[in-house]
Amino acid sequence: MIRLQETLTSPRSPSECFRYAADFRQLTGWDPTAVRATKTTPGPVGLGTVFEIAVRFGPRVLPMRYEVTGWRPPHQVVLRGEGETVIATDTIRFSPRPARDGGGTDLVYTADLELKGGGAWLDRVVRPIAVINGRRAINGLRRQLAAEPPVVTRSWSRDLADRLLLPGAAKFTRQGFAHARLPAITTDASDRTIVVTGATSGIGLSAATTLARLGARVVLVGRDGAKLQALRDTLIADAGHDRIAVQIADLALQSEVRALAARLIASEPRIDALINNAGALYGERALTAEGRERSVAINLLAPYTLTRALLPRLTASGTATQPARVVNVSSGGQYLQALDVDDLDYAKAPYDGTKAYAQAKRALVALSRQWNDDWQARHVRVDAMHPGWVDTPGVETSLPGFHRTMRRFLRTPEQGADSIVWLALADAAVPGGQFWLDRQPHVTDVIPGTVVHRNTLKMLAERLDSVSETGIA
Ligand SMILES: NC(=O)c1ccc[n+]([C@@H]2O[C@H](COP(=O)([O-])OP(=O)(O)OC[C@H]3O[C@@H](n4cnc5c(N)ncnc54)[C@H](OP(=O)(O)O)[C@@H]3O)[C@@H](O)[C@H]2O)c1
Repeated sequence: MIRLQETLTSPRSPSECFRYAADFRQLTGWDPTAVRATKTTPGPVGLGTVFEIAVRFGPRVLPMRYEVTGWRPPHQVVLRGEGETVIATDTIRFSPRPARDGGGTDLVYTADLELKGGGAWLDRVVRPIAVINGRRAINGLRRQLAAEPPVVTRSWSRDLADRLLLPGAAKFTRQGFAHARLPAITTDASDRTIVVTGATSGIGLSAATTLARLGARVVLVGRDGAKLQALRDTLIADAGHDRIAVQIADLALQSEVRALAARLIASEPRIDALINNAGALYGERALTAEGRERSVAINLLAPYTLTRALLPRLTASGTATQPARVVNVSSGGQYLQALDVDDLDYAKAPYDGTKAYAQAKRALVALSRQWNDDWQARHVRVDAMHPGWVDTPGVETSLPGFHRTMRRFLRTPEQGADSIVWLALADAAVPGGQFWLDRQPHVTDVIPGTVVHRNTLKMLAERLDSVSETGIA
């Protein structure tokens, strides 16, 4: 038998460390040998939970089945894994550190490996590789359970990279996400209610899944009732709680957005965060049944009307220490376009779907900053973010060429959703009114002539108001 033992100290509480480390779905976040990790039993993680893991060992990818065989939260978890050639027993002990030493948790990780049918020679070959892999995994776990870095403000070097466009855009990639080396989000969200639009696919689906796993009540908003119901069932099985609600609305239609807001006000006694994620990029100009150009309808009018209509509920839910949050999912494409408020529906100019999309996303960034200023006293913080370049069904359909050529560089939906989840759960230490990528604020304007001036923003709000017909309560 090969026994590996490593220790680490985390500034996080034992329950946060336990929740993260005992959930082997997170393995790909900290063990470089883990290629895939899924939970195959329904319900919360606990005694009897089974994880299917794919582990890279040299040139081979080996499937392993892990089962939780010991469960004493937040003190100890035991997972027994079995693969074709190996049996592993992983025991993780968590002990609180005294407050006089700064608090936090000591973790002792013990892994016992038995090779099936191998002689002493196999043990000699495998041991050094297992030791190296084990150390790498513990270093990964240490990084994930490190303290949240202090909230960063804008920096001249980041601003310069953004302004030079290419270095800024390099950060949009999967490699850019890895470079940011962000620790795990382990916040207990069981007292939060979070509304996620566009929850049925891509980035929104990932944000909803993570938030549900962290315990939040998640309201899934989508336009397809069957998809929403199936997703609700999946999330209940995956997250292990049933605080998952669905709301059907075609957000391209203002009448449906208004009806949705009314239903949410009636059904949700609190709304701690609203994630305006639904969006689309269209190649051709087309009007909705209400006569609006569909890109502006889904990417701008929908978040505009929904956010303002939910403001009273957000206001009632936010406090000075834990403000309610609005997260507007924008795009790096917003950098490339100025805002033309005279032709929001693109009736005059020849239609360019990428331009229409970028303009709507730019407007959303400008509005986020303004709303944040206006709603400070209500303890409602509003931010825009961009997820980077993410491999989603939306990108594959709307930008097939880009998807094909950039595939190796595209982020996973989880990576794209990271800052959304982080912002939705952020407390008062995280300022509002910013444009975030990978939990860092970025400049909003890099090309001369694209700045949205106060007057333009006022005109935009007037035009949107006349369509939206919602007032602030
Ligand atoms: N992927 C990227 O690289 C990237 C980059 C920058 C910004 N973004 C932004 O990230 C957000 C999510 O995009 P994604 O890449 O995850 O795209 P996606 O896979 O196409 O997901 C878009 C979501 O929006 C929903 N949606 C679209 N039109 C709707 C409507 N009229 N009413 C209600 N729901 C509607 C879709 O519902 P259905 O499932 O019913 O289609 C889906 O749930 C968008 O705002 C997008 O602009 C993405």
